[in-house]
Amino acid sequence: MARGFFLTFEGLDGSGKTTQLRLLEPHLRAEGQSVVMLRQPGGTLLGDRLRALLLDSGADAPQTGGPITPLAELALMFADRAQSIAEVIRPALDAGSIVLCDRYTDSSEAYQGFGRQLGSAPILALHQALCHNLQPDLTLLLMPDLQASLTRARSRNARPGLDENRFESEPDAFYQRVAAGYEAIALREPTRVHVLRSSASISEIAAEIAAFVTARLPVLSHT
Ligand code: TYD
Repeated sequence: MARGFFLTFEGLDGSGKTTQLRLLEPHLRAEGQSVVMLRQPGGTLLGDRLRALLLDSGADAPQTGGPITPLAELALMFADRAQSIAEVIRPALDAGSIVLCDRYTDSSEAYQGFGRQLGSAPILALHQALCHNLQPDLTLLLMPDLQASLTRARSRNARPGLDENRFESEPDAFYQRVAAGYEAIALREPTRVHVLRSSASISEIAAEIAAFVTARLPVLSHT
């Protein structure tokens, strides 16, 4: 059976990963690759409903019947992930596509494990049980200056439209723990996780990512 390539983007809110992922997609298509793009939480009907529950800044307000506890939050992130693996990621990989995923289990480890201080153990156990340990082939971790990321993320709080600000209103200490979590993951898995610390321009980082990914891609055959 054909096996595609599973590429995830990780980083703090405001790190620029979503912008970079969107720039990489047309580059890969221009190289003749079949690309499937998704984000977590979200990307399936169930996932989009979970996303609204998880990210709405009202999720800590009484109309939801009380705050979402850290463990419930973790469980919902994995419910979303299990569904997107079954519906989107696994079929796309089996068809030989490149899957570009905006956040994956590393986000749960960094945000819930470190940020919410649940520790890595429950995340790794859930990943084993609910994701059959499906690991990305490559993870690009964007780690520009922490304060610059936070300023960017929080300035988006003011934008009209969807309310997805729940995490972006967390204090600096939370984000320092999340960043430490990402550093720990990168240290533990240096082959899978490639860290980009650059604060170069968007187009310079995009060119660096495109070259790096092209060099790491195997020859894929689409079915
Ligand atoms: P997203 O819109 O992806 O944020 P951004 O565009 O800033 O990267 O929002 C996802 C939010 O959910 C983000 O704050 C991180 C958080 N999150 C977790 O806490 N755990 C998880 O497992 C995932 C996938 C996301």
